[in-house]
Amino acid sequence: MAKKKLGICVMGLGIGYLHAKSYSKMGDVDLYICDIDKEKVKRAEAELEVKRAFGTIEEALESPEVDAVDIALPHDMHRDVALRAAEVGKNIMIEKPIARNLKEADEIIKAARRVGIKLMVAEWQRFAPSIVKAREFIKRGLLGKIFLIQVNQLGLFKVGGWRLSRERMGGGNLIDSGIHAVDALLSLGGDVKLVFSQMGRFVLKEMEGEDTSVTVVRFRNGTIGNLITSWGVSTPGPHAYFTVYGTDGSLWEKLGKDGGLYIRSSKLPELGEEPVKVDLPEVSGFEVECRHFVECILQDREPITGPKEARADLEFVIAAYRSAETGMPVRLPLQEAM
Ligand SMILES: NC(=O)c1ccc[n+]([C@@H]2O[C@H](COP(=O)([O-])OP(=O)(O)OC[C@H]3O[C@@H](n4cnc5c(N)ncnc54)[C@H](O)[C@@H]3O)[C@@H](O)[C@H]2O)c1
Repeated sequence: MAKKKLGICVMGLGIGYLHAKSYSKMGDVDLYICDIDKEKVKRAEAELEVKRAFGTIEEALESPEVDAVDIALPHDMHRDVALRAAEVGKNIMIEKPIARNLKEADEIIKAARRVGIKLMVAEWQRFAPSIVKAREFIKRGLLGKIFLIQVNQLGLFKVGGWRLSRERMGGGNLIDSGIHAVDALLSLGGDVKLVFSQMGRFVLKEMEGEDTSVTVVRFRNGTIGNLITSWGVSTPGPHAYFTVYGTDGSLWEKLGKDGGLYIRSSKLPELGEEPVKVDLPEVSGFEVECRHFVECILQDREPITGPKEARADLEFVIAAYRSAETGMPVRLPLQEAM
């Protein structure tokens, strides 16, 4: 008898379509989908290897064919769907942010722990070759002591639907795509001790949340840094996505023409004085992250973007919102919802 494949149901086919596409290519996965938008379901069925489309989330959760769910739904649905999925013992991959606030996040984390299922946040940046390599260089000590980290995520974004509502989003730009940049900052710099933020809505007047944020950071190890995110920038000036400065060198991810990871290190004299572009594998972060989720389930491993990382990213965002509201620096960890 053929070995049963792992049944994964992707819920929500916005960005979830790319998750579905990744699973669709895997020989050991049966792909299930669920979306209330019939056009999106039709498109996925036409383009991908879909075993079955469920009409409702509840129907998918009740199905014994489904071993795991991939929740790619609006932020205000994350908590309820994840709690229900945990209740029926399904493994969970959930799009970032894990939830809109720490209370919701902790409910999800506790439920997953209680039932003993895998819980992973879909933070593809941790799997992006540039970040993986940069972390490796830092760990090898090639930059010496790190003292300054900058992350910039600038672009023009068209918001609509649930993203217009601060309540449904849990905030604005920072809790949405900005949290990827938060994850990049934390994965490069470690635990954060203090944040001081300023934010505003300058361009996307139709949304309730902020479209732009600036945060100054002090890491627990003493490193300082900053994070700038915006959905309102149509023509960004020259900037790197991330830059890490150490006592023995620097590295950065250049965007656009000649984009990629660059390093200059006095510990690698063979590279010379000029920055050198690093060879990186060309892989899709989505494919690597979806494969990681599958392997964590099949091999009973803990995801590298598990509850701890998901919560740390969200805690940073919540602290930044508090700082912007009060005009005061905010210390981490936040004393709430533990
Ligand atoms: N990793 C990334 O790069 C990335 C990019 C974009 C969005 N996201 C995250 O993905 C999640 C979804 O965002 P999005 O941009 O895809 O949103 P979206 O609005 O484009 O897609 C959400 C989908 O959920 C469906 N849906 C809503 N209610 C439903 C229900 N009751 N049953 C079934 N389907 C339902 C909608 O029809 C829609 O197709 C969010 O958490 C967001 O932050 C991540």
